[in-house]
Amino acid sequence: MTDKLIIKNLHVKAEDKELLKGVNLEVAQGEIVALMGPNGSGKTTLANAVMGRPGYTITKGSITYRGKDLEGLPPDERARLGLFLSFQHPAEIPGLRVDDFLRELRERKKGKKQGIAAFRSYVKSLMDKLDIDQGFLERYLNQGFSGGEKKRMEILQMALLEPSMAILDETDSGLDIDALKAVAAGVEALRSPTVGTLIITHYKRILDYLKPDKVAVLIDGRIVREGGPELVDKLEAEGYAWAGKQ
Ligand SMILES: Nc1ncnc2c1ncn2[C@@H]1O[C@H](COP(=O)(O)OP(=O)(O)OP(=O)(O)O)[C@@H](O)[C@H]1O
Ligand SMILES: [Mg+2]
Repeated sequence: MTDKLIIKNLHVKAEDKELLKGVNLEVAQGEIVALMGPNGSGKTTLANAVMGRPGYTITKGSITYRGKDLEGLPPDERARLGLFLSFQHPAEIPGLRVDDFLRELRERKKGKKQGIAAFRSYVKSLMDKLDIDQGFLERYLNQGFSGGEKKRMEILQMALLEPSMAILDETDSGLDIDALKAVAAGVEALRSPTVGTLIITHYKRILDYLKPDKVAVLIDGRIVREGGPELVDKLEAEGYAWAGKQ
């Protein structure tokens, strides 16, 4: 069984517009792959297509994970296969308490009820690790959270769900240096030979903490470059115009 996420010649459209135009990308378990590219190049579209979010149609090519073709699988079944996607802009859910939400997530993952006391002590140890104030457990999900607090909350959700393939969409945007380190530490804590990570980012900073095994550059719906971490330095120096040149 190939425990890889394999994206092959993927063409995706939304509202009759072709957004991905033949993307090839592989993320193996145990690997951290960074996906970079200018605004509007299709990074979030790619993440949404992998998770099966509505509104994105595959017109050609395929997405397979662990040898299974994902086309037509609803998002919750993809999550059950071990896929996790963070949101670029996490939603606020008034009335949903963070502790209830997290316990529900964990119960769904484990397939059984979680005792409140045991769950609380488990989640608090994770919050310590991610440098999240435990007072957040009593608040409503993302309501009034600062940008950085929302991102940390996403990493906490990821830790609870123990995915085998995590896609982080600009989890590092707008983070101060401590939050950035906490997020990187959260991802690093999850790193293992059985966990793959695709990290979508605009910045070199988080990649200084999380050494990617591979860097891919998406421009106008196509991967135009792939290389090692040195590609990030080259991009910083030269910009995307360089990457787009043949
Ligand atoms: N559901 C949709 N319907 C129509 N157009 C869409 C849809 N989703 C995305 N697009 C368009 O597709 C293009 C790629 O968007 P996408 O969000 O994938 O870019 P991105 O690379 O994630 O950019 P950013 O770095 O700004 O987050 C954009 O022009 C966007 O407006
Ligand atoms: Mg995006």
